[in-house]
Formats: sequence, structure tokens, C-alpha cells
Amino acid sequence: MNWLTRDQIHYLVLKTHSLTGLVPVGAFLVLHLFVNSLRTVGVWQYQLSIDLINNLPFLIWIEIGFIYIPLLFHSAVGFYILKTGTRNVNVYRYPRNGLYTLQRLSGAVVFVFILYHLGTTVVPKLFNGKEHFEAAPYLIGIMNTEFESWLVRLIYIVGIASASFHFANGLWGFCMSWGVIVGKNAQRNASILFMLFGLVLMFMGFATVAEFSLNPIEVSPTVPGV
Ligand code: HEM
Repeated sequence: MNWLTRDQIHYLVLKTHSLTGLVPVGAFLVLHLFVNSLRTVGVWQYQLSIDLINNLPFLIWIEIGFIYIPLLFHSAVGFYILKTGTRNVNVYRYPRNGLYTLQRLSGAVVFVFILYHLGTTVVPKLFNGKEHFEAAPYLIGIMNTEFESWLVRLIYIVGIASASFHFANGLWGFCMSWGVIVGKNAQRNASILFMLFGLVLMFMGFATVAEFSLNPIEVSPTVPGV
């Protein structure tokens, strides 16, 4: 039987790392920031979106399969790349080289942010058994209290900025490594486009933080059928 060589396994792991960064991890980030930005439209719309998510069938399995496992894999391989420092460091000229270093640093920051973020949202929600229609008022209450603090606002601003940069710059790296952008012009245009995209993500996140900080509103659980 033909087993894969070490180099082939290494190559497959790096390609899977690159792919998971786009789908599902990157796709989740875009959706997540978008759904949370509904808070800027109105607290009712926001509550409705959390109600919808928390009433999905098989929610825990969807989260484990599509969010937590790919996120863990992407982070573990990311830390491996950070530690071994193998790829591409000397390939790109300045400023690409600087962006590559920032890509690694922002990944580490996002990982720490996610631990904090899960520890203050999903973990207490599960621990206190807040399911279905009870999840939204509970989570909105946590957010209202959290965003009273300047330190928490700063943590979110750094987390959102790092995640938006990491994904936008990662998209450029993805297109390079999968041969989507080849010519010099295409590469330059793509980097402008992706950076604009990153700024839009950042803006959505910052607007949500501002809304929670300036306009905290408590809500009661939705009563189905009323
Ligand atoms: C304004 C910014 C943000 C707000 C208000 C926010 C809010 C929330 C809330 C309320 C939850 C719990 C959802 C639930 O259990 O129903 C959650 C989960 C989560 N958030 Fe955020 N988030 C923000 C930014 C981010 C960023 C930047 C990241 C990534 C770096 C992120 C990653 C996650 C992950 C991985 C989960 C767990 C997913 C799940 O189990 O549904 N969040 N967030």
C-alpha cells in the first residue's frame, strides 16, 4: 500500500489549514460580525437573530462540527507555523514581509481573544442552562454589563481589529497559495480589495461595540406565539 510521505502529509496539513481559514472559520467570522451588527438596527432584531440561532436543531453538533473543530485545527496549525517559522518569511519583499509577521501575531491575539470571548458568553450560557428563548436575554444582559467597562471595550476593539485583519490578509495569502491571483497587478489590486473588505468587517464590529456601550437595553425572553 502506498502511504503518504512526510512531505506530502506536511503539504496536506498546510493546505487544509489554508482552506479552513476561508471556510468555515472565515465565513463564520463574516456572518458572526454581520449578525451581531443587527444590534445597531434595533435590539428586537438582534434578539430575534439570537433566538433563531439558539433554536436551531442539533445546535451543539453544528457548533462543534462547523466552528470548534475547524477553529481548533486552524489555530493548532497556525501556532505550529508560528513556532517553526518555516514558510515564506524571506520570499516576499517589504512591506509584504511585515504583513506576514502581522498575520502570525494577529492570529495569536485572536486566539486569546476567542478564549476570553467564549469564557464570558457561551460558557456561562451553557453552565447556567440558558437554552432556546432564554439565551438571548441572558447574553444581551451579559453584553450590556460587559460594555460598561473601558477595558472590555478595548479588548473587543483589539479582538475585532485583529480578527478582521487576520482574515482579510489571510484571503490574500489564500489566493496566492491556491494560484487564484498570479500577475503583479492582480496581486496589488487584490490586496487593496481585501484590505477594504477587512475595514468593512472592522467597521461592523466597532459599530456593534459602540451601540452596546452607548445604548444598553435589557430584554425579556420572547414568548412564542405572542
Ligand atoms: C462586536 C463584536 C462581537 C459580539 C457582540 C459578539 C457576540 C457573541 C455572542 C453573544 C456569542 C454567543 C452566541 C450564542 O451562544 O448564542 C458569541 C459567540 C462566539 N463568538 Fe462572538 N461576538 C463578537 C465578536 C467576535 C469576534 C471578533 C470573534 C472571532 C475572533 C468571535 C468569535 C466567536 C465564537 C467562535 C463564538 C462561539 C460560536 C457559537 O458557539 O455560536 N466573536 N459572540
